[in-house]
Amino acid sequence: MSRRSFLARCALLCGGSALAGAPLGALAQGDVVKVGLIFSMTGPFASTGRQLEAGVRLFQAQHGDRVAGKKVELVIKDDAGVPEQSRRLAQELVVNDKVQILGGFSLTPLALSAAPVATQSKTPAVVFVAATSSVIDASPYFVRSSFTLPQVTLGIAEWAPKNGLKTVVSLVSDYGPGIDAESAFKQRFEQQGGKVTEAIRVPVRNPDFAPFLQKVRDIKPDAVFVFLPAGVGSAFMKQFTERGLDKAGIKLIGTGDVTEDDILNDMGDVALGVVTSHHYSAAHPSAANQKFVEAYRKANGGKRPNYMAVAAYDGMRMIYSALQATNGAAGDALLDAMKGQSFESPRGPVVIDAQTRDIVQDVYIRRVERRNGEFYNVEFDVMKAVHDPGRRK
Ligand code: PHB
Repeated sequence: MSRRSFLARCALLCGGSALAGAPLGALAQGDVVKVGLIFSMTGPFASTGRQLEAGVRLFQAQHGDRVAGKKVELVIKDDAGVPEQSRRLAQELVVNDKVQILGGFSLTPLALSAAPVATQSKTPAVVFVAATSSVIDASPYFVRSSFTLPQVTLGIAEWAPKNGLKTVVSLVSDYGPGIDAESAFKQRFEQQGGKVTEAIRVPVRNPDFAPFLQKVRDIKPDAVFVFLPAGVGSAFMKQFTERGLDKAGIKLIGTGDVTEDDILNDMGDVALGVVTSHHYSAAHPSAANQKFVEAYRKANGGKRPNYMAVAAYDGMRMIYSALQATNGAAGDALLDAMKGQSFESPRGPVVIDAQTRDIVQDVYIRRVERRNGEFYNVEFDVMKAVHDPGRRK
């Protein structure tokens, strides 16, 4: 073993104390913390990968690449949205690149596939996206900076019956987060006096919405509640108008994934007035968010951030704060230092629940409006400090 890697190993095993006598120059040079990030940079969910990478890069541009006297080196890999790739890349990152932290995971199946690698290698892994409630149970080394579908669905499930929507058809992507959204919506909406008259699930990849929308039209509910993963909403909106659902007086409601900031401007006027609930809008009026959006736009050719960029930015903050707290130690100490963190995110105040390792945050009710020639999800109501409802009320 080289002197350098011996010192690095010792730093991990002995909490740094064995380094007391080492020459400082050599130490400073060798002290690197590697963060392995797995994004979907190509394939159908490439827009998510771009947002995630931009969020991470912005954080480092603003906060530098050194923390607790160590250089934070990012190793970014593309899993192209293929679960076997996520697992293989996680393995390579841990074994070959010797990363001390993992992060990313654009879709639920990708996080589930990589989970055993985090567990077996005892590597803390920050889930930047995958939002099925149960993802967090897949590894005790997972900590989540994004959201869960049940958490963000409650808001719209409570808003709808109070606003004259009594019958709803749900339409969701047929996998973990969609099924979470479907059941959370039904449960809360019916508890409040509404009725879900049909629950439709559409394929995750390249969905043709036409036959499903025709079915909704025939049923003619007051509204259709939609969950689709980021990036897919504009194709849906186009078909929603083409099939004449808007003209038939069927309202569109959903989680904010369907009107996400990356694609909202491409949707056309059909998006105006759509009400959703979610944890982040680029129009969130806090000073912290205005600063964040401005810096993001500047660094990304004028494009605005969506909730993916925010989760990556906050995920990096969680990693930096934890490294600061442990003085650069890895493994269980680093994981423990992420639990219980609280800070002001561009989305609003957040806490990482120490027991569940999940994020607790405000959930906003928003309506799509035109502002300065652009479309935004404008927040008009809020549920404060919402937990994933399956774990904590
Ligand atoms: C997920 O696969 O967990 C997922 C992806 C994109 C979203 C929400 C959930 O917008």
